Amino acid sequence: MEIQRRKILKEKPNAAELGFGKYFTDYMFTMRYDASHGWHAGRIVPNEPYALDLASSVLHYGQGVFEGMKAFPRPDGQISVFRPDMNWARLCRSAERLCIPPVPVEAAEEGLEELLRLERDWIPAREGTALYIRPAIVATGARLGVHASDEYLFFILLSPVGSYFSGTLEPVRLLAEDFYVRASVGGTGEAKCLGNYASSLFAAEAAQRAGYDQVLWLDANERKYAEEVGSMNIFFRLGDTVVTPALDGAILAGITRASCIELLRANGCPVEERRIGMDEILESAERGRLKEAFGTGTAAVITPVGSVTYGGKTVRPEQPVGEVSRFLYRTLTSIQRGTLPDERNWNKIIK
Ligand code: COI
Repeated sequence: MEIQRRKILKEKPNAAELGFGKYFTDYMFTMRYDASHGWHAGRIVPNEPYALDLASSVLHYGQGVFEGMKAFPRPDGQISVFRPDMNWARLCRSAERLCIPPVPVEAAEEGLEELLRLERDWIPAREGTALYIRPAIVATGARLGVHASDEYLFFILLSPVGSYFSGTLEPVRLLAEDFYVRASVGGTGEAKCLGNYASSLFAAEAAQRAGYDQVLWLDANERKYAEEVGSMNIFFRLGDTVVTPALDGAILAGITRASCIELLRANGCPVEERRIGMDEILESAERGRLKEAFGTGTAAVITPVGSVTYGGKTVRPEQPVGEVSRFLYRTLTSIQRGTLPDERNWNKIIK
């Protein structure tokens, strides 16, 4: 693979001050698409500002999709990436929904592996950190007509990260949003596309001004059922059962979500994927059955939820950092870092 070297390498940040998505490594992988060549010209280049035609469709109509994965250092010095096959499959599904030609997975995988080998010194070792992987495909055709572009750029950025939520271990406060909606069935909610995130900002900022950390999105039809938290899927432990919203087309099919469901079931904990009404959550809290709540995501890992506010009423799970959240956090991060056996072959090992 072609690698264009840079003359001066960047200084690496202090692992204690990483935060999320603030630092980027020296190199990135890029590949281009046009109608006559298909996907071609995969190469590693310095991660520097990139020239884009300002008429590029992505800048006007948001035709773009992305993914998030993480790479970890292993005790044996190798690198592991958590369940990349699932991310590549989801990237292709998202691309299809946005009329973007899916990237050839083998070429994307090869690009990522080569990039990780080149950037292995950027993988932070400290507990709670990782090298975040951000692949994306954006429409670069310079045409203002509203139609699918005929040119695209695929790229992979790497960013050493710590905790997503400002580095504190405080459980997050959620505001269930009963006016604005993130997605509806038939829309793009289950695609990881740019517009879903842009359209979530207004309500998220209002919630933050009102003293909450994140919005808990509800269903678009009735504004009654919990869906997701935008940067993570949501789980509630009601009594001894863990409940999470079923994937109805409006919710992102999280890979951490799927992994948690599998781990819980394998450890004898019943998990229900179904609709969860906000009334049920409030009522469970009143009856002492809301034991814990947590979000899951690549960036968020397992994030405990300290309170949920809906219709002016705030409920608090009995355990702000619950035993299920702790079990999942410990198990998942230990599998990812290679300190627990990877019985399900979730890690892709890169030498
Ligand atoms: C992830 O968890 O990887 C995400 O993409 C969520 C957010 C940072 C956009």
